[in-house]
Amino acid sequence: METKYVVLLTLAVMLVLVNGDGESSVKPIVKIVKGKKVCDKGWECKGLSEYCCNQTISDYFQTYQFENLFAKRNSPVAHATGFWDYHSFITAAAGYQPHGFGTTGGKVTSMKEVAAFLGHVGSKTSCGYGVATGGPLAWGLCYNKELSPNKLYCDDYYKLTYPCSPGASYHGRGALPLYWNYNYGETGEALKVDLLNHPEYIEQNATLAFQAAIWRWMTPVKKHQPSAHDVFVGNWKPTKNDTLAKRVPGFGTTMNVLYGDQVCGQGDSESMNNMISHYQHYLDLMGVGREEAGPHEVLSCAEQEAFNPTSTSSSSSSS
Ligand SMILES: *[C@@H]1O[C@H](CO)[C@@H](O)[C@H](O)[C@H]1NC(C)=O
Ligand SMILES: *[C@@H]1O[C@H](CO)[C@@H](O)[C@H](O)[C@H]1NC(C)=O
Ligand SMILES: *[C@@H]1O[C@H](CO)[C@@H](O)[C@H](O)[C@H]1NC(C)=O
Repeated sequence: METKYVVLLTLAVMLVLVNGDGESSVKPIVKIVKGKKVCDKGWECKGLSEYCCNQTISDYFQTYQFENLFAKRNSPVAHATGFWDYHSFITAAAGYQPHGFGTTGGKVTSMKEVAAFLGHVGSKTSCGYGVATGGPLAWGLCYNKELSPNKLYCDDYYKLTYPCSPGASYHGRGALPLYWNYNYGETGEALKVDLLNHPEYIEQNATLAFQAAIWRWMTPVKKHQPSAHDVFVGNWKPTKNDTLAKRVPGFGTTMNVLYGDQVCGQGDSESMNNMISHYQHYLDLMGVGREEAGPHEVLSCAEQEAFNPTSTSSSSSSS
């Protein structure tokens, strides 16, 4: 009885693994809706979306690859030992794969998007430095929070919309770290979690931390603007203004969307180059190869004008 069960289980596992490459390991439910093929792949890509007909992230990005990318995160000198894991990432990504996260275009485009997203994450959460063992790029996901915040990041301008909770501190937390009450408030609204009163949830729950980061990646900062996802996968067509501002589809513009003139339009800054280096390194580790990242013009935002300049008087009325 027992052995029979084991044999059956082994067979089932083999069937899943043996499935030819290029094809997903989960048999989708396929339907045609208004002439379009849409699929549902169960928990990882749910809800009849055309994106779910493509490979899902766990089809081409597995535990060992996550371990390679973030090799040092559980070392004794890391600052979030035991916190981050593959499962949290995939669980968080599941909610966004039906919307195209890691499921847009062919396998290479999908893998590039995961490398780009994680490149941002790795760079923002690294404790690597020039002489660190394994090199400076091996230390992503070393933090899950800012260690010595010197303020509460409470902006009173938002006291009606996102009032600070007494005693709460809105310092950096997460995979693409959140700062300030309004960012916790907005993200919490989107994820239906009370982050304004409980910003600490982000440092207690890796799935939530990844969710917040993927939500940011997938969501425009302002209405009528592209998201980082959009500018990366080619959903976004630059307008004449974009072209004049040197904004082109690709990795460079993802930094513009997420960080604006903190990073972009500053020439070859260290923080910009650090993100690019993480992205290229992850492409190599994932077996895609950094040559797929494209030329420097696409990778960089050194000469770009920000979508949302911080200097000009409260920017435009576009939102
Ligand atoms: C699904 O993958 C194919 C290539 O394998 C690609 O041409 C197509 O655009 C992808 N679907 C979506 C919705 O991105
Ligand atoms: C962590 O966050 C996820 C996603 O928001 C949620 O589903 C889960 O219940 C949370 N876990 C705990 C222990 O609160
Ligand atoms: C293009 O830029 C000009 C000048 O900054 C601005 O007035 C105009 O509204 C912009 N057009 C679009 C479509 O954003």
